[in-house]
Amino acid sequence: MPYTPRPYKITGIKNLADDVKVFRIRCSMNPSPGRFMQVSIPGVGECPLTSCSYDPKYVDLLVRKAGNVTSALFRLKKGDRVFIRGPYGKGFPLNKIQKKKLILVAGGTGIAPVTSLIGYIEKNRREFGSVDIYFGFKDEGHILLKDKIRGWRKKFNIVVCLNKRVKDKKCEEGFVHEIMGKHWKNKDNKDTLAFLCGPEIMMDCVTKELNSFGMGNNKIYWSLERRMECAMGNCGRCLIQDLYVCKDGPVFRYDLIKPKIENEKASNEDYKGR
Ligand SMILES: Cc1cc2nc3c(=O)[nH]c(=O)nc-3n(C[C@H](O)[C@H](O)[C@H](O)COP(=O)(O)OP(=O)(O)OC[C@H]3O[C@@H](n4cnc5c(N)ncnc54)[C@H](O)[C@@H]3O)c2cc1C
Ligand code: FES
Repeated sequence: MPYTPRPYKITGIKNLADDVKVFRIRCSMNPSPGRFMQVSIPGVGECPLTSCSYDPKYVDLLVRKAGNVTSALFRLKKGDRVFIRGPYGKGFPLNKIQKKKLILVAGGTGIAPVTSLIGYIEKNRREFGSVDIYFGFKDEGHILLKDKIRGWRKKFNIVVCLNKRVKDKKCEEGFVHEIMGKHWKNKDNKDTLAFLCGPEIMMDCVTKELNSFGMGNNKIYWSLERRMECAMGNCGRCLIQDLYVCKDGPVFRYDLIKPKIENEKASNEDYKGR
């Protein structure tokens, strides 16, 4: 049953930055890219996480230490067990992206679902057109998955964007939307889809940039994060208007979710103003 948490063994842990680790978990779940799992530690709690790998034998959880559950996860060692239920939600629309050119833009731990999508593309390379990847990080110390990025440079057009001064010649300095805009300005957007994942402010800026090149919101997909509890469409915790992020998302076509996010923001402002 996908609703029952089951124990799985941690077979490896890698430190990627002060507050980010990857936990390899032996598990045959193989969630399709963009779906998520509820990961729990008994006595502490549960939180949604995405696998950043695409492999039938394991999942890789790329985790930023944020609060209770993720801090408890950081205290675990190789050989310990975590409980997982899922996978949940709708991931990237794999049936709609074949033969398309893809722009993948992600920031911080938002690279987790995008990395799983890249894993899928690598295994099915002939089904896709060109793939342009833009990853944004704070600075050189916060670049995640360096080994994977090195390998992708040989297969895809990938640009690593850093907000702070750049010494590494392979990275570019500036916000990810500015750098993506600079590279995409004169490119042909026909048959192109964009997938964005990261802080909403970042996705908003990237979307505006893509719109300025004539790319419609129906060609742009956002992967959203909201607080969750049941992850199954029962509790209403993740609702944006009438859409459940856990069940209808977390990946949404932007033209469909944009009015709901705007209404949500307006009603939050209205509530604060009372
Ligand atoms: C579908 C989905 C996939 C995710 N995938 C990943 C992933 O692959 N890697 C990763 O590191 N994180 C991911 N997250 C975010 C992760 O779930 C939260 O960081 C986690 O729930 C924090 O739990 P905690 O108990 O450690 O922190 P808590 O103690 O619950 O919270 C710590 C702080 O983070 C804030 N916070 C917690 N959850 C959220 C949220 N969903 N949205 C906004 N603010 C939040 C709280 O308000 C609080 O300020 C994902 C979230 C969703 C919804
Ligand atoms: S988390 Fe309960 S309805 Fe989405």
